[in-house]
Amino acid sequence: MRIVCVAGARPNYMKIKPVMDALEARGADVVLVHTGQHYDESMNDVFFRDLGIRPPDRFLGIGSGSHAEQTGRVMAAFEPLLDEVAPDAVVVVGDINSTLACALVTAKAGPLLAHVEAGLRSRDWGMPEEVNRVATDRVSDYLLASSPDAADNLRAEGYREDQIHLVGNVMIDTLFGNLDRARQSDVLARHGLSRGGYGLVTLHRPANVDDPEVLTGLLKALGEIAGRCPLLLPVHPRAAGRLAELGVPGGITLIPPAGYLDFIALQDSARVVLTDSGGVQEETTALGVPCVTLRDNTERPITVEQGTNVLAGRDPQRIVSTVHAVLDSPPEPRRPALWDGHASDRIAAVLLDGGTAAQRLRPT
Ligand code: UD1
Ligand code: UDP
Repeated sequence: MRIVCVAGARPNYMKIKPVMDALEARGADVVLVHTGQHYDESMNDVFFRDLGIRPPDRFLGIGSGSHAEQTGRVMAAFEPLLDEVAPDAVVVVGDINSTLACALVTAKAGPLLAHVEAGLRSRDWGMPEEVNRVATDRVSDYLLASSPDAADNLRAEGYREDQIHLVGNVMIDTLFGNLDRARQSDVLARHGLSRGGYGLVTLHRPANVDDPEVLTGLLKALGEIAGRCPLLLPVHPRAAGRLAELGVPGGITLIPPAGYLDFIALQDSARVVLTDSGGVQEETTALGVPCVTLRDNTERPITVEQGTNVLAGRDPQRIVSTVHAVLDSPPEPRRPALWDGHASDRIAAVLLDGGTAAQRLRPT
């Protein structure tokens, strides 16, 4: 069976790698397609090195642009590629523009479509990712869910049971597979940090970093928190310009985006993580590290219900009081079921051994 696996941006690499490995271990002919949505050394190349991902078989070189430009360019480049490669199935992961673009092309071209991380819902239509999630699921044959709430969302939306597969979290496969190596990183020493002696921050959601007023409020909150616990902030390129313009309060150290192993090491040793990232909410839950999410909602509610995540919204005072409360009384870690390092094996079993491999499952 020939399977195209799609990756395009930072949060895709750690999701696609274990899926590729599991498919290849069962004899599938995997073709890795990289759309090129992310392209900086620190947003792209370092992940291929850290995770041992082979160079992409096909590179589309799409780069940055508006939503329509980016999505459209991926679609136009992916369509002839699918024609030429003629796979039996296409696997897309997550919720970025490349995910949606390749899903739409696949749905019309014919191969079966599998969506890894199906069913996550923030119910916040102001997030471009929510549009990507809902639309990708709608045209997928295999809906591969990472948590029971995601599977329930899909049932509530009317998808059939034979489409929905609760397989667990592939991001955690990669986390557990690389944790020992990450713990050998010297990143703490390089930044003069000690275990449990700092907070780690990431910010890249448009709703947080594109509006200077919102970002100013967030920086004010971070400045107050830094008075109690120094903060390290690896800067996403989307936020770099605005952070440079606004300047950051004392106690906050800005560094370039961290590589995968360094960033896992930084999460693992942090006293608290403050983030608006989807994946970081999950990794902190798996690591048992307190996480404060700087958003009003999450498409990953299991990290709040069972994990270490607390939603603090965007109001500076609420963020400060939430972080103090978390530092005073850290949440008890509880790892969700099926976040066990074997989600990709279950995906490969569904796609290759399930007896459904030749069936079109898309809803009518
Ligand atoms: C994208 C995803 C988001 C994901 C994030 C992960 C969409 C709609 N958004 O957001 O879901 O959480 O990636 O990090 O797909 N840039 C660079 N170098 C790069 C990549 C981007 O400088 O290698 C800059 C460019 O100015 C670009 C901006 O970052 O315009 C935004 O990049 P883009 O891929 O459009 O969206 P992200 O905000 O990165
Ligand atoms: N990550 C990283 N370096 C960083 C920030 C994040 O390696 O400086 C990793 C993080 O550990 C997780 C993934 O990138 O595996 C999350 O990606 P991101 O936050 O960009 O996107 P999201 O998950 O919000 O879509």
